[in-house]
Amino acid sequence: MKEDDFITIEGYKHKRYYPVTFSEEEMVERTESHYKFMDKRRSVRYFSNKEFPFSIIENIIKTASTAPSGAHKQPWTFCVVKSEYLKKKIREAAEAEERKSYDERMGETWLADLKPMGTSWEKPFLETAPYLIVVFKKPYELDNEGNKLQNYYVNESVGLACGFLIQAIHNAGLVTLTHTPSPMRFLEQILERPSNERAFLLLPVGYAAKETYVPNLERKAIENIMQVY
Ligand SMILES: Cc1cc2nc3c(=O)[nH]c(=O)nc-3n(C[C@H](O)[C@H](O)[C@H](O)COP(=O)(O)O)c2cc1C
Repeated sequence: MKEDDFITIEGYKHKRYYPVTFSEEEMVERTESHYKFMDKRRSVRYFSNKEFPFSIIENIIKTASTAPSGAHKQPWTFCVVKSEYLKKKIREAAEAEERKSYDERMGETWLADLKPMGTSWEKPFLETAPYLIVVFKKPYELDNEGNKLQNYYVNESVGLACGFLIQAIHNAGLVTLTHTPSPMRFLEQILERPSNERAFLLLPVGYAAKETYVPNLERKAIENIMQVY
């Protein structure tokens, strides 16, 4: 950055942005290969317990936090759980909620829609995966006096950050599952989070187990998801 790369707008400093650019040929090639790479991502429910460097987790979370957010409030906290004790507690609490959901809370249609996934209330991967990332959203911040400071578009912002997170996990050659053992208040309690944090997603992260199977799903074709006006 050079001295004249900065300007001031209404008292706030802005810096010149140098966009990343490619030739159109490269753009076509890159977008196609990126799509093919992302199309290989799957939600995985069988994990290996094999360890990997913690810096990978840090890089993944740093990537997630590059997501856009309402008024740049970055209303998220990523809690990384590696303690065997806490993973066990989380598994037990998640399975208790899931058992209730499968037995009582989900209606017939929901259960029928889940059938192809082959899922049940049992979640052994919550203990097998070396790390759990629990994403918390922050509907508001608390200042030093305990006053609430508003955040904006919190669900959209945290959802985007989770998208970046999942993409970064795939890019690392690891797998994850977008897991929502709802209601997820137990995560706030077990991890003793502050009163302004709400559990948003629970993502085990690790290598896929040696032999892993995923539901044989098809993704919608472009004609069915895109409308051009
Ligand atoms: C918001 C959200 C919540 C999900 N919750 C669960 C869950 O609790 N348990 C589970 O096994 N899969 C869960 N999934 C994973 C979906 O079943 C999976 O993304 C979908 O079947 C498509 O498969 P794919 O991710 O391999 O493309 C969830 C996905 C999303 C986006």
